[in-house]
Amino acid sequence: MSGFAQRLLDWFDRDGRHDLPWQHPRTPYRVWVAEIMLQQTQVQTVIPYYTRFLDALPDLPALAAAEPDRVLALWSGLGYYARARHLHRTAQICVERHGGELPRDFEALAALPGIGRSTAGAILAQAHGDRFAILDGNVKRTLCRYHGIGGWPGSPKVEKQLWQLAEAHLPEARLADYTQAVMDFGATLCTRSKPACVLCPLQEDCLALREGRVEQLPEPKPG
Ligand code: ADE
Repeated sequence: MSGFAQRLLDWFDRDGRHDLPWQHPRTPYRVWVAEIMLQQTQVQTVIPYYTRFLDALPDLPALAAAEPDRVLALWSGLGYYARARHLHRTAQICVERHGGELPRDFEALAALPGIGRSTAGAILAQAHGDRFAILDGNVKRTLCRYHGIGGWPGSPKVEKQLWQLAEAHLPEARLADYTQAVMDFGATLCTRSKPACVLCPLQEDCLALREGRVEQLPEPKPG
């Protein structure tokens, strides 16, 4: 395990969020719904919607069987409604082809509507402790700063490098906690503006901090 992962896990044990609704119990269905809601929406906004959604549709077969209008009504207020349609469609595909469960196979999971590489990794790591990396906007920003990486993180070249680093940092164990830790870290400390570098558990090894480039990284999309 890299120093990066060890420090983030220590930080998570001390200061991380341990009472998020999708952490107890951490089933694939519950983690998946949370990850889709969290793709474009912050944790504090998601929580009441999440609780209501899970009360109404507690498992994947219930979601698959729900009327489309009901799913959209439960989503109403969260925005980005394609996410709700993808969620519903994916539940139906899982009933038709995967025995009513989300597949544990990474490629099969990543191919489902609305999922993709990072969300598939987030689901498998949190629900099963499988050793997959995630790379959302928060993690990209963290890695660009920690490693002092210039260039726009959305470019194929930089993105490839970031995936390699995200994978190289993975711990051998505690993948669910590590995944929650990197996401919380980017969302609460290594924020886009005014990051909390004085409180940061990675400050000793952060290249951007050492070089005074924290506010400059990650670089914006050119043009
Ligand atoms: N963003 C995406 N997934 C998240 C999670 N599990 N916790 C916090 N922020 C997230």
